[in-house]
Amino acid sequence: MYSARYEYDGHNGRHERIDFLSSKEKAPSKRKMGIVIGALVAFLIVAAVAAFLIWLFVFKDADSGATLSKQLKPSTQVFSGHMKLADASYNQELEDTTSNEFKVLSDNLEAILAESYKKDPFLAKYYTTSVVTAFSEGVIAYYWSQFDIPVEDLEIEPEFSEERVLETLENGIKQQRIIKTNIKIREITSSFTDPRMARNPKSNECFFRLEADEKEQKFESPGYPTAYPPRSRCQWQIRASVENVISVAFPFFQIEDDCSDDFVFIYDSLSADDSQAITNKCGQRPPSNPLQVVSSGNIMLINLITDSDTQKPGFAAVYKAIPNSEAKKCGGVLSESAGVFTSPLHPSFYPPAVDCEWTIKVPKGQKVRVKFTMFRMKEPMVDIRVCHKDYVEVMDTKYCGELSSLALTSDTNVLNVNFHSDESYTDKGFSAEYIAYDPKDPCPNEFPCASGICIAKELQCDGWNDCGDMSDERQCHCEKDQFACGNGLCKPRLWVCDRVNDCGDGSDEKQCSCEQNEWRCGNGVCLPQDVVCDNKKDCEDGSDEASCKTSLGICSDFSFKCNNKECINKVNAECDRVNDCSDNSDEAICDCGTRPYKLNRIVGGQNAELGEWPWQVSLHFLTYGHVCGASIISERWLLSASHCFVTSSPQNYIASNWQTYSGMQDQYKQDNVRRPVKRIISHPDYNQMTFDYDIALLELSEPLEFTNTIQPICLPSSSHVFPAGMSCWVTGWGALREGGQKSQILQKASVKIINDSVCNMVTEGQLTSRMLCSGFLAGGIDACQGDSGGPLVCFEESGKWFQAGIVSWGEGCARRNKPGVYTRVTKLRDWIKDETGI
Ligand code: ARG
Repeated sequence: MYSARYEYDGHNGRHERIDFLSSKEKAPSKRKMGIVIGALVAFLIVAAVAAFLIWLFVFKDADSGATLSKQLKPSTQVFSGHMKLADASYNQELEDTTSNEFKVLSDNLEAILAESYKKDPFLAKYYTTSVVTAFSEGVIAYYWSQFDIPVEDLEIEPEFSEERVLETLENGIKQQRIIKTNIKIREITSSFTDPRMARNPKSNECFFRLEADEKEQKFESPGYPTAYPPRSRCQWQIRASVENVISVAFPFFQIEDDCSDDFVFIYDSLSADDSQAITNKCGQRPPSNPLQVVSSGNIMLINLITDSDTQKPGFAAVYKAIPNSEAKKCGGVLSESAGVFTSPLHPSFYPPAVDCEWTIKVPKGQKVRVKFTMFRMKEPMVDIRVCHKDYVEVMDTKYCGELSSLALTSDTNVLNVNFHSDESYTDKGFSAEYIAYDPKDPCPNEFPCASGICIAKELQCDGWNDCGDMSDERQCHCEKDQFACGNGLCKPRLWVCDRVNDCGDGSDEKQCSCEQNEWRCGNGVCLPQDVVCDNKKDCEDGSDEASCKTSLGICSDFSFKCNNKECINKVNAECDRVNDCSDNSDEAICDCGTRPYKLNRIVGGQNAELGEWPWQVSLHFLTYGHVCGASIISERWLLSASHCFVTSSPQNYIASNWQTYSGMQDQYKQDNVRRPVKRIISHPDYNQMTFDYDIALLELSEPLEFTNTIQPICLPSSSHVFPAGMSCWVTGWGALREGGQKSQILQKASVKIINDSVCNMVTEGQLTSRMLCSGFLAGGIDACQGDSGGPLVCFEESGKWFQAGIVSWGEGCARRNKPGVYTRVTKLRDWIKDETGI
């Protein structure tokens, strides 16, 4: 007799039992049939279970294994820090990584580290190596340790913490002290480190040791100035004698823009220890804003990491030693009635670990006002409401981050200003002006803002927040021709119901002639609310479909027209990094409106920096020097104003009488690019009497090459909206005041777009639809003679600058109620395209 029993206890815990009968047990036919069917069913069940199991263990696993290895990579964790050695005497030989002293001591320390990690089974499992990279006075040894986690263990990665590593090392050191050699480690630190910065100095590959003294010396990135190689890992260890700190400046700095690929990382240590980082930087820096850092002690480490294939020139650096006392000199008593004070070494980065205190003391009965003209203390991961790292403290409040307008006033005749920088990350710091003032008249002939700054009296209650804290627009009594906004602002009545939220709280657009559930078309007609974005043009002007994401096909003046004639009803669809047109033509020509230089925001001051307005061009006429401005719209074409060329003198219309200068900031400096003009195209409808159609195109005889300081501006499509109230910038070398001299240095001014009906009113009906106003009704800021033809540009959220206007005319300059009038580029966009193809 043979009987087979098959038992299976499946994953789900169900128990199955199948018995096969021996031939002797065979029963009469009916029973036989039943058995056969039963067996068949049983067999099918077994087969199904087996198939499931095979799939579960063979295919599914193999499958997920494949996806796992496709997505996941083994991880490398690196910790670095330093250790202080007790009872050891410092030997200069230790600085030479090839010396025997270095070898003996580093081998010993590496062995102690390895030994310590062995005590923690978890760390021991993944530990790979430790390398001692340097020694400095103290005696301090710098090291890093590496752990490698294979793919199958990746989930334990979070268990690698600085605390765990440090605790293990500290325990290891304690025990080692009792049993082993004469080397004693007194103190050890450990922090997470980017594995790309773990270098072995013995490998000597792109590794440099520099000695700083009071004489300035140079070093450069590999391949400079042509290009650094991709995947570089370079390191410079810099030392100076004990009583000094090290200063490093980068007169030239151009690294890839994306800091995750390529960057320079600078440490106030000889190991890449994040708790002693000074800064990390990428991108390009203009000569006006060079990177310049200082260490807190006599060592510094500089790393260059390049991973991208985009190769940039790299950097040129100079370094020197400066006495410790000089680098950290700051603070003191200031008793003049006005003065300036700055963070140590400003505008260079301040050193790590310094504290300063200034006491400003003015005569009794007076108070102190401090205005920070530059304030930059930015650190990664710092909450600027708490400022727990570097800060300036005034009257129990700490300030940090980047502030564009900080002004403070004292309660008494004494004001203390404290500055603190901790061990990691430094920045440019601050520059501040202080002045003593009479509390009875804090702003002689000016309006005192609550923030402490003074502004021109006329700016009070003019509808714009000039103080920055709204204090100039509070408690205003609205004039008859003004509308009282819900938030207390006064705005010209003409702005009410113009479909622009001028008040900021929408109150000027709330009670318009249409009912609540109605939509007000541009021409004032009221239609039921549901006509909005219903894919049908209901208002005559198409305004009901103007700002809908999806009213495809409806074309109105507000729509962006794709090359394939599709219409996009979305505000400012061009170059906003979203493909709206099915042919992507809205994002096709967007290499414009960016400034390659990383510029520092400096508060106040109207001189433009080199490269700040890279599309600005100076037009020189015969021997007269600068006469008009223009803007770069492509390698070959400039945009300017007709009235520069169409004048009573035919000479102005001759192309060869003009020279163009690009990349210029200072009229007297020669470092710019000159291009003669080949052709002038003035708009055929330009009217010399009314300045209508004041636009001209200049074709260059030779194309421009775009650089850091020469770039094209983005031209807005004809549907682009620059709403009233928007802040834009006008630039030029024009007169500094009405009837005044032209400027040598390019000037910039922030001006606001003014509502058309208001502008038409103040210009006594001289405005045409080809014109646009910008400036301040209060006066004070404007373009002037010599700025003509230059651009009025606005920064869009997409991160690009667009040209809204061309400086055209104005009554005088900066007069009250006489804003600047500009040629409206959107209205003439199609003409530009017809003439140039751009
Ligand atoms: N027409 C002047 C010129 O030739 C520019 C006037 C601009 N005036 C003004 N107030 N925004 O330079």
